[in-house]
Amino acid sequence: MSLAVVLSRAEVGIDAPPVAVEVHLSGGLPCFSIVGLPEAVVKESKDRVRSAIINSRFDFPRGRITVSLAPADLPKEGGRFDLPIAIGILVASKQINARNAAELEWVGELALGGGVRPIKGTLSAVMAAAHQARTMIVPHDNLAEAALVPSADILGAAHLLETTAYLDGQHSLAAPIAPPPPPDQADGVDLADVRGQPFAKRALEIAAGGGHSLLMMGSPGTGKTMLAMRLAGILPAMSQAEALENATIQSASHRGFDVATFKQRPFRAPHHSASGAALVGGGSRPRPGEISLAHRGVLFLDELPEFDRRVLEQLREPLESGVIHISRAARQVEYPARFQLIAAMNPCPCGYLGDTSGECRCSTDQVHRYIARISGPLLDRIDMHIHVPSVPRKALRRIDANTETTHIVRDRVSAVWQRQLDRQGALNNTLTGRRLQRFITLDDACQSLIDRAMEKLNLSARSYHRIIRVARTIADMDHSNTIESSHVAEAIHLRCLDRR
Ligand SMILES: Nc1ncnc2c1ncn2[C@@H]1O[C@H](COP(=O)(O)OP(=O)(O)O)[C@@H](O)[C@H]1O
Ligand SMILES: [Mg+2]
Repeated sequence: MSLAVVLSRAEVGIDAPPVAVEVHLSGGLPCFSIVGLPEAVVKESKDRVRSAIINSRFDFPRGRITVSLAPADLPKEGGRFDLPIAIGILVASKQINARNAAELEWVGELALGGGVRPIKGTLSAVMAAAHQARTMIVPHDNLAEAALVPSADILGAAHLLETTAYLDGQHSLAAPIAPPPPPDQADGVDLADVRGQPFAKRALEIAAGGGHSLLMMGSPGTGKTMLAMRLAGILPAMSQAEALENATIQSASHRGFDVATFKQRPFRAPHHSASGAALVGGGSRPRPGEISLAHRGVLFLDELPEFDRRVLEQLREPLESGVIHISRAARQVEYPARFQLIAAMNPCPCGYLGDTSGECRCSTDQVHRYIARISGPLLDRIDMHIHVPSVPRKALRRIDANTETTHIVRDRVSAVWQRQLDRQGALNNTLTGRRLQRFITLDDACQSLIDRAMEKLNLSARSYHRIIRVARTIADMDHSNTIESSHVAEAIHLRCLDRR
């Protein structure tokens, strides 16, 4: 009889709680059981572990093998425990040495031939292991992403045989190489590419300046998509901690994490046919959705009225709180989702309402119905709505030497962010309740201006708070400590859909 314990980590949202893989061998009829894993996962894992061990020319122990993954109440899915289970079996059956087992943690899926295959969620596991000052052995294909965690001690394994040779002291495992420096975010898409549109560009800079959400309304071809694609570029560079947090979410996603995108503010543009699970996250094995993949970056919803209304309604909570809670049967997962929303829509079903071409034949009723597809409560949560007019063809051809590049605007936005961080430790769009009262004060003139606008336009309390937060950002861009009437007036002007 013998026992081995190998350390690993589970995946819960973007956390990686520890899991002890205990392997117990005893005499009796041949039997291989794994407790602490869901049924379907156990069956597949048993088959892979057995084949990998045999194909690596080890003996598969003949007696009774009991594997327990503790604690039992954690969700434990996927193949990440294959490698620690195989190592546990080989140690318990004394085929390999258990050298420094207490200092090592293992994750990896096994192929039938013994190869180690990449897993999802490597980053959170590596961060947690680094926190405990343990070395983590990860699949070789996950090594580049694991290397992003500063101070982590990691080794990559491509085959089960490599890891056993390592434990025997005969072979060293691959250490990570430093990742290449990230490319500049503005490469390929620069704000200077957009001709004209001074009003829309100003709105885009205000949105970037205070983290505000923006809806652009305009006919096809007016440059809405172009503008949206340039928002991420004018946001200040991500800090190491922010970049790691976003990478951890990507790492847990279906698609996994592409190291080349590290430190790039994400720009996500899901299609309007996207399901709720794709947009906000979910599935029977919960994975982060588009809003979490856009964490600390931009979520672009093009053709906003075409999205399923129920799907859009699910954005309301994360838009306020910056996190999304996903409940599935017995479990709750939480993913960060502090994204900046930018949306675009046509002004009417045909798209040409108000266009100089004069082609629009939509009735007033049709136009109202079209805009009403976006629910009031969602619209209330969007800080700014603007019209994007078409640019005359002549202006499109004109090359203006004074057009500002992404770099210039990003420097200005960085300074505006710094102002807010110095004053209140967060961007203006996050100010609510008492913090809002403390940091946003209006003098009598501003107060009466906004009161009159509220009355005339019949605004909700929510839009009131949005207007004053945007006004605060405009004042910050103006290097002004106090909010002036002109700032409030511009913020009111940036909500065109409030005056239908
Ligand atoms: N303001 C502009 N400056 C330069 N090119 C523009 C502008 N507006 C539109 N275009 C051109 O028209 C194309 C379509 O623009 P797009 O952003 O897709 O419009 P929309 O999303 O509003 O339908 C762009 O690829 C670009 O070539
Ligand atoms: Mg478009």
